[in-house]
Amino acid sequence: MGASENTIDILLLGAGGREHALAAKLAESPRCGKLYIAPGNGGTLEVGENVSLNEADAEAVADFARETGCGLVVIGPEAPLVAGVADAVRAAGIPCFGPGAEGAQLEGSKLFSKQLMARAGIPTAAYGSFTDEEAALAYVREQGAPVVVKADGLAAGKGVVVALTLDEALDAVHECFNGAFGDAGSTVVIEEMLTGPECTLLAFTDGTVVRPMATSQDHKRALEGDLGPNTGGMGVYSPVPIVTDEEHAAMCRILDDTIAEAQREGIDFRGCLYGGFMLTPAGPKVIEYNARFGDPETEVLIPRLKSDLVEVMLACAEQRLGDVELEWRDEWAVSVVLTSAGYPGSYEKGKVITGIDDAEAMENVTVYHAGTAVNDEGELVTSGGRVLDVTALGATFEDARNLAYAACDKIAFEGKTLRRDIGLRALRGRDAWDA
Ligand code: AMP
Ligand code: GLY
Repeated sequence: MGASENTIDILLLGAGGREHALAAKLAESPRCGKLYIAPGNGGTLEVGENVSLNEADAEAVADFARETGCGLVVIGPEAPLVAGVADAVRAAGIPCFGPGAEGAQLEGSKLFSKQLMARAGIPTAAYGSFTDEEAALAYVREQGAPVVVKADGLAAGKGVVVALTLDEALDAVHECFNGAFGDAGSTVVIEEMLTGPECTLLAFTDGTVVRPMATSQDHKRALEGDLGPNTGGMGVYSPVPIVTDEEHAAMCRILDDTIAEAQREGIDFRGCLYGGFMLTPAGPKVIEYNARFGDPETEVLIPRLKSDLVEVMLACAEQRLGDVELEWRDEWAVSVVLTSAGYPGSYEKGKVITGIDDAEAMENVTVYHAGTAVNDEGELVTSGGRVLDVTALGATFEDARNLAYAACDKIAFEGKTLRRDIGLRALRGRDAWDA
């Protein structure tokens, strides 16, 4: 149990930059007793205890939390959510931040989320869904290109093809039905292509009350100029300067409507709802939901949160978010991802990382670990594609951006790769998208 009556021990599941950011913020709370991270990374072990647990094994997670007397379980990634880990934890009587398997379907099944949006009248791309390849191909021929082809299930961000030509679209359908995404592709959603800047809005929710965070914008493509393959995210900033007040209000309303619809349908969604939006000429439309914090979005949102994260997460888990007001810092935040050369394709691991202390010695800079580990010699080494998220806060967007890059330059490892244009388009204003 925790050190005093008022502290609680916490188990956080996950191993990315998102989890390092959450772990650091949880650890800072006077309410945080022992903090376990499963499995964690080279950064989380500096703020808590890494434990080796299969994060998607619901019973193992619930048993660990019960045996260690944890008073809160926080689920970072989607796989344990979809696997029902939150259900098992709650069944063990332990408060859990994260929806159960049913709520996680908002992320786990594109078709489920499209159908819920339709029932709630939430603006999104027009679509058709298919479990039969011939019917899907016929629909694509009828719609013509451009068109978007999505595998229904979880595909680690790789199950979406924005096809600009008919041949690309037909190929994408064929691949989905022929095992490219395993079971995730046995149902295919085909959508109208939307245009406009993308914007993400996350919200804390206890299943009834919805408290939006700040807007953020990820850069998903590997190469500068938004070219190259999709990745888990190469950099992000918050808030998004080009969003109008009307658009912001519309996105907040959509998240409210989403949770209200879920509640009407008996889905108890306690955790973080991630709305991925396209700011179309007809207003914001939902591209996707996630049932969790975004990565790397968390790495710019959490440093701006002034409120106590343990209090906020417990309030979500215990369905009393109405009692909590969120407070945010005014500064802008920019985070640049340092990756291993070759990512998102194959890359080498085990490269020694230096310079993090120098980067963090700069005021308003925080370096979150994603794919890092400590080797047998006690050195910090690369262990993944996305290695570090270098976050800087600044009084202006440009200050934050310049500081983030200055900090990136202090860090070295063999094969270090980064995009130099994170936030550049937003800095140029809305016209940079309309052009
Ligand atoms: P998702 O995994 O659904 O977020 O899709 C990945 C990326 O594909 C999004 O971030 C968008 O850039 C793009 N995308 C998804 N759906 C659409 C759509 N209907 N129109 C245009 N682009 C889309
Ligand atoms: N950054 C996108 C995601 O977390 O899904």
